[in-house]
Amino acid sequence: MTADFLGQPLHLPCGATLPNRIGKSATQEELATPLGHASPLNVTLYRRWSEGGAGLLISGDVMVDYSHRERPGNIVIDDNGGMAELREWAAAGQAAGNHLWMQINQPGRQTPIDVQEHPMAPSANREGLPAEGFGMPRAMTGAEIEDLIGRFGKVAAIARETGFTGVQLHAAHGFMASSFLSPLCNTRDDEWGGSLENRARFLIESLRAIRRAVGPDFPVSVKMNSADFHKGGFDMDQSMAVIEMLNAENLDLLEISGGNYDAPAMIGAMGGDQPLARQKAERTLRREAYFMEYARRVRPVANMPLMITGGFRTLDAMNGALAENATDVVGLARPFCASTDFPAKLLRGEIGEVPMIEETMLLDREAYIGQLDDREFNLLESNHQLAWMYVQLTNLGEGKEIDWELTLEKAPQAFADLENAREAARREARGELEHAQ
Ligand SMILES: Cc1cc2nc3c(=O)[nH]c(=O)nc-3n(C[C@H](O)[C@H](O)[C@H](O)COP(=O)(O)O)c2cc1C
Repeated sequence: MTADFLGQPLHLPCGATLPNRIGKSATQEELATPLGHASPLNVTLYRRWSEGGAGLLISGDVMVDYSHRERPGNIVIDDNGGMAELREWAAAGQAAGNHLWMQINQPGRQTPIDVQEHPMAPSANREGLPAEGFGMPRAMTGAEIEDLIGRFGKVAAIARETGFTGVQLHAAHGFMASSFLSPLCNTRDDEWGGSLENRARFLIESLRAIRRAVGPDFPVSVKMNSADFHKGGFDMDQSMAVIEMLNAENLDLLEISGGNYDAPAMIGAMGGDQPLARQKAERTLRREAYFMEYARRVRPVANMPLMITGGFRTLDAMNGALAENATDVVGLARPFCASTDFPAKLLRGEIGEVPMIEETMLLDREAYIGQLDDREFNLLESNHQLAWMYVQLTNLGEGKEIDWELTLEKAPQAFADLENAREAARREARGELEHAQ
């Protein structure tokens, strides 16, 4: 099959044009300097990705508050300087003429406990949080909500000033904006909670602040869940209703994903958007494009361009989704952690599929029988895969190639070694800062 559809440019409502339909979905890289600035490794990695041929690169999530980082090594924009580093990163990430958008996020209740003991959240409850790793959230005051919305706008303006060609608000995967949407996480009884309209207010006001900050001629995107995959939580009907609200907000791209840390649907763990019974009947078929069914439902309702992300691995499935007009851009993330140049090869029709880490880098299931149930084993395996990818992102950022000798078994220790060295550098940098004050 040729890459007929993948190679088409996409004109966005704001007037910008993506050169093709391959999008790198956001991938947190954990490569910031100890002060939370973009590092030379970010620069090298994004230059390589730019030269790799994707029409759109979305950055790893950039934090708006140092005290609420989604991972310790995030890039942060919070009165901490780093503008020259952002400029260098932005220039490298669009060296080949693609778009580079900054993803903006505040992780809220999913801020790890070693970063924040009592993270800010819509409400003080632990519904839908994994049992370990996160402190008891505390409910934000109205003033804190307004402050955060202001920060999103400020950071979006900085993204434009420093040379990014667009911005995306992260409103998926259980982080702050996503948790406001959820009736389980958000039990407020003021104007920010209760009805769906109230729960969506934080998202809508944040997008308005971002649009005001960047102006009408700059791409603004949002990544949102099709569902949280929690009983009684944010579901597909509510998600569709929010998309109808978003129709009035001049969006340039709506990216669709799903799930959160406790229900990782974004990486296929919850079976995607099709009923499990049907999947069991089709279990010989590999599940590609986890949120296609949902995208087909959304398409007639949404008036903005769409990007579906999660599970795309073959040229046939990508071209097929574009050909049937279920999406405008195909989003991929994990394959970019194992190859920098697959998009160009796909576009030239040289390959029919992309790296499938989640299917090729596997733990030995037999070794865990009797110790872990299926859910626990799958979680362990995807955590190992994540560690493997973080190590490879470091390799790519250092200008090296993928280390295929690194086994999945050894990946967590290799990643922990990297993280410990970085944490020591962060402690030292903080010490120097305090000393200087
Ligand atoms: C290493 C890694 C880091 C990620 N970081 C982010 C992030 O910062 N923001 C985000 O919205 N999603 C993030 N994701 C999720 C991806 O953007 C994507 O939704 C998910 O991996 C499914 O796409 P895939 O099947 O092509 O990997 C990350 C995924 C991986 C593997």
